[in-house]
Amino acid sequence: MTKLAIKGGVPIKNTKESPWPVWPVWGKEEEKSLIEVLNSGVWSYNGPKEREFNKLFAEFTGTKYAICTVNGTVTLQLALEALGVGIGDEVILPGLTWQATAATIIDVNATPVMVDVCEDTWCIDPKEIEKAITPRTKAIIPVHLYGAFADMDAVMEIAKKHNLYVIEDCAHKHGGEWNGNKAGSIGDIGSFSYQLSKHLTAGEGGSMITNSLEIAEKLDALRNCGRRPEGEEYHDLDKGAGDYGDDGNFIQSGNLRITEFQAAILIEGLKRLPAQNANRDVNGDYLNTLLNNIPGVIPIKRDARETKKAYFNFAFRYNKVDFKGLPIEKFREALEAEIGIVVDSSYEPLNNCSLYVPHTKPARHKLNDAYWAEIDPTRFVLPISNKIFKDESVCIHHKVLMGTKADMDLIAAAIKKVYDNVDEIK
Ligand SMILES: Cc1ncc(COP(=O)(O)O)c(C=O)c1O
Repeated sequence: MTKLAIKGGVPIKNTKESPWPVWPVWGKEEEKSLIEVLNSGVWSYNGPKEREFNKLFAEFTGTKYAICTVNGTVTLQLALEALGVGIGDEVILPGLTWQATAATIIDVNATPVMVDVCEDTWCIDPKEIEKAITPRTKAIIPVHLYGAFADMDAVMEIAKKHNLYVIEDCAHKHGGEWNGNKAGSIGDIGSFSYQLSKHLTAGEGGSMITNSLEIAEKLDALRNCGRRPEGEEYHDLDKGAGDYGDDGNFIQSGNLRITEFQAAILIEGLKRLPAQNANRDVNGDYLNTLLNNIPGVIPIKRDARETKKAYFNFAFRYNKVDFKGLPIEKFREALEAEIGIVVDSSYEPLNNCSLYVPHTKPARHKLNDAYWAEIDPTRFVLPISNKIFKDESVCIHHKVLMGTKADMDLIAAAIKKVYDNVDEIK
């Protein structure tokens, strides 16, 4: 008799009777705030909601300055620009990340240098950073992928030794803490995304955080057509660290401002975030303890220095040998049928990524032949990233971690069911 849901059996989770939690989360508070913005007629341009959100996000991340902008891609690009990274510079980043981490580096005419990740965390491997450093290296972008933490002690030590900037890509890490310091506050600039799938969302959006007045002024201007920053957070502007011209503009840029509607949603979302994170963390930790008792699946390592975890999409590693050679795609399909939610792979490694193809844009990126060769992603060798993507990665939307403890038992039971009945689909 067929047991697995993919073979017509009864799924472990009955999503009709008991659906997964919804994402995004909103309520009367968001409705009220959106209507308030609508009726105010102040829909954009350094409005009260934007200013309030910046203040709240700076407080939340324990930094002096937070500046919001259109998305978590632009945050990375503006971070690089504010730090003066550009032509001739190399920036080291993990080979396993979303394409924006690399694409923004070539958008400022610098060279992305991709290095491999640690097998147990899927985050940048400090040993590989050391090997990749050259006299041209200007910055490192660690990515806290799927809510794991890059080893920030090691990254900061290397950066200090070689005098490099650090931009933390925190698109998956809103509210995480490393040794008591909030993700994004450890490097020179922290970059956050508020795209729909993220811990905190306004559909789209992003923030940059920093403790440096000089950097904050540049970031603020870069998202606002280069205008000199306004507002009391920049204290006495005449004595600001920025190199202002007399006419008020001090840096070339365009309009990368968010709207008051987005800021209104973000203010309410930020109020909900600590409790949501706490719920995800309790469930994520519990589910990982259950995974430890199932052959063939390995939890992502959580570092003891993570004083707040901020689990994002729930990720774990698959070992096909224990599943009698079952290809990972079939495992994901079988698990998906049991729990009624998409079960995905990791991002594609950037040396073979369908959305990171700089050579499709010669008019923009072919600065010269040498640069053209340098930005060829296929020249990077990333065996661990490729193994994770092809053979090991299993990722499920973070909304499953917003369910109950019983839901975590069901996910574990579903994995065990596939393990016990693997002969049905081999
Ligand atoms: C690691 C990482 N960095 C940057 C981004 C870009 O963020 P956005 O989609 O807001 O541009 C994403 C988006 O998925 C991401 O996952």
